[in-house]
Amino acid sequence: MRKKIAIVTGASSGMGREFIKQITMRYSFLDEVWVIARRMDRLEELKSNNSKIKIVPMAMDLNDMSQFLELENKLKEEKPKVFFLVNSAGFGSVGLFEDLDEKDVAGMIDINCRALTMMTYKVLPFMAKGAYIYQFASSAAFVPQPKFGIYAATKSFVLSFSKSLNVELKDRHIQVVAICPGPVKTEFFDLAYEKTNIKMYKLLVMAKPEKVVEKALKDGANKKSVSVYGLPMKMVQILCKVFPWDFAMKFIR
Ligand SMILES: NC(=O)c1ccc[n+]([C@@H]2O[C@H](COP(=O)([O-])OP(=O)(O)OC[C@H]3O[C@@H](n4cnc5c(N)ncnc54)[C@H](OP(=O)(O)O)[C@@H]3O)[C@@H](O)[C@H]2O)c1
Repeated sequence: MRKKIAIVTGASSGMGREFIKQITMRYSFLDEVWVIARRMDRLEELKSNNSKIKIVPMAMDLNDMSQFLELENKLKEEKPKVFFLVNSAGFGSVGLFEDLDEKDVAGMIDINCRALTMMTYKVLPFMAKGAYIYQFASSAAFVPQPKFGIYAATKSFVLSFSKSLNVELKDRHIQVVAICPGPVKTEFFDLAYEKTNIKMYKLLVMAKPEKVVEKALKDGANKKSVSVYGLPMKMVQILCKVFPWDFAMKFIR
C-alpha cells in the first residue's frame, strides 16, 4: 500500500510549523509528514508531538538546487501519495533596493520563487486526487511596495502562478491555494526588519500564525484559490482591485 503523506517546507518555524500542527491534528489518515528546512534540531523537535503520524525530517537548503536530489530520489523510491504540499519557506528583506545585500536580493528570488516552483514541479507527479497545494504568497502581492519591492514582486509571482496552476489542476481534483497574509507574528519579522524599524500600522494589524493557517485550511476545503485572513487585509485586497495601482500604493503607504 502506498503511503499517504504531507510535505511541508519552512517547517522549522512560523506558519510552516503551524501547518504541521494543524494537519497532524485534523488529518489522521496521513502516515507521514516530510518536514523540510535547514535547522535540523528544530525539525527533530517536531517528532515530540502527540500525533501517531510519523514526522520525517529532511534538512535542505532550498537555495541549493542540488539538495532537491535527495527528495526526488526518496519520492521515486517510495512513490508516496502526497495529499498536502505546503510551500512555506520564504523570507523578505526590507530596505531600498540599492541598499539591500546582494545575497538577499538573489535569495528572495531563489527561495520565494524558484525553490517554491521547483518543489511544486517535483512533487506534483506524486500528488493524489483530492490533494491540496498551499503556497505562501502575501498581501504584498497585491500592490508594488517601495522598500520591499523585490519581496512584493516575488509574492506577485507566487499569487499569479498559483491561480493559473489551480485552473490547470482542476481535472486532477487538486486544489491550489495562494495564502496572502498581512503581517503575522513569526520570526519573519526579525529577519525582514534587521536594519530598519517595523512600521506602527504593521504592529497594529499583526495576526497570529494559527489563525492564518486555520483560515487557509478552511478556504482550501471550500475550494477557494486565494486565502486572505482578517478584515484589514481583505480591505487592502479590495482597494488594490478597485483603484489604480499607483493610487492604492500611495493610500496604503
Ligand atoms: N510573517 C509574515 O508577516 C508573513 C506575511 C506574509 C507572507 N509571509 C510568508 O509566509 C511564509 C512563512 O513565513 P513565516 O512568517 O512562517 O516565516 P519564518 O517563521 O521566518 O519561517 C520561514 C521558514 O523558511 C525556512 N527557510 C528560509 N530560508 C530557507 C532556505 N534557504 N532553505 C530552506 N528553508 C528555508 C526557515 O527554515 P530554516 O531557517 O530552518 O531553514 C523557516 O522554517 C514565507 O513564505 C513568508 O514570505 C509571511
